Amino acid sequence: MKKIIIAIDGHAGCGKSTTAKAVARKMNYIYIDTGAMYRATTYYILENKIDIQDITEVKKALGEISLRFAINDVTGNIEIYLNGESAESKIRTMEITSKVSDVASIPEVRHFLVDQQQKMGTEKGIVMDGRDIGTVVFPNAELKVFMTSDVEVRAKRRQIELESKGEQVNFEDVLEDLKNRDHLDSTRKEGPLKVAQDARIVDTTNTTIEEQIDIIYQLAKEVA
Ligand code: C5P
Repeated sequence: MKKIIIAIDGHAGCGKSTTAKAVARKMNYIYIDTGAMYRATTYYILENKIDIQDITEVKKALGEISLRFAINDVTGNIEIYLNGESAESKIRTMEITSKVSDVASIPEVRHFLVDQQQKMGTEKGIVMDGRDIGTVVFPNAELKVFMTSDVEVRAKRRQIELESKGEQVNFEDVLEDLKNRDHLDSTRKEGPLKVAQDARIVDTTNTTIEEQIDIIYQLAKEVA
């Protein structure tokens, strides 16, 4: 089998990361969660009280950010490291989630991260998930998948996931956040969320995680 690039884009909260990670494991590929890169950047910007309207400040902050993915010896999972420290436990809160789309709409932020993502794919054998992977990061990816599902189903699943991590959240707030992010992500000028012309659409409203993984794995085997 030849090594390929698998680009997975789609709406917020439809299981992209879980599915992409499992497909990567099955294929012995690298998995990159680009949402984590936008989230870690947002965390840094909020922590340092950077005014996101002030582009000079934003650029200075980007110059101070170093991101990498590595195995955390304690958890045994691949996690995102921000300036040498795992940021995984800090980047999935509702606070970061509610701000990340604003930060991700800044062109300088996108160029900064897209450039790093493209470098990660030079050897192929990679599954990357996000919003603009098949359209901007890897427009020549051998397999492009666009995942979507009913927004209420996504909100319910996300609520259960957050509650299992100990964060008490209200269904309506989660639903609102997903709708709001999808709107902001789809309407921004730079790298908007949209279906790549040659993407395969996978609707996960009625599928289990195992089924989603299998659908994408079978698609990958067809092209690899
Ligand atoms: O994938 P996840 O939901 O963690 O992504 C968080 C946010 O990061 C998205 O709502 C979007 O604003 C931004 N993002 C992006 N482009 C990507 C990945 C994520 O704009 N490739």
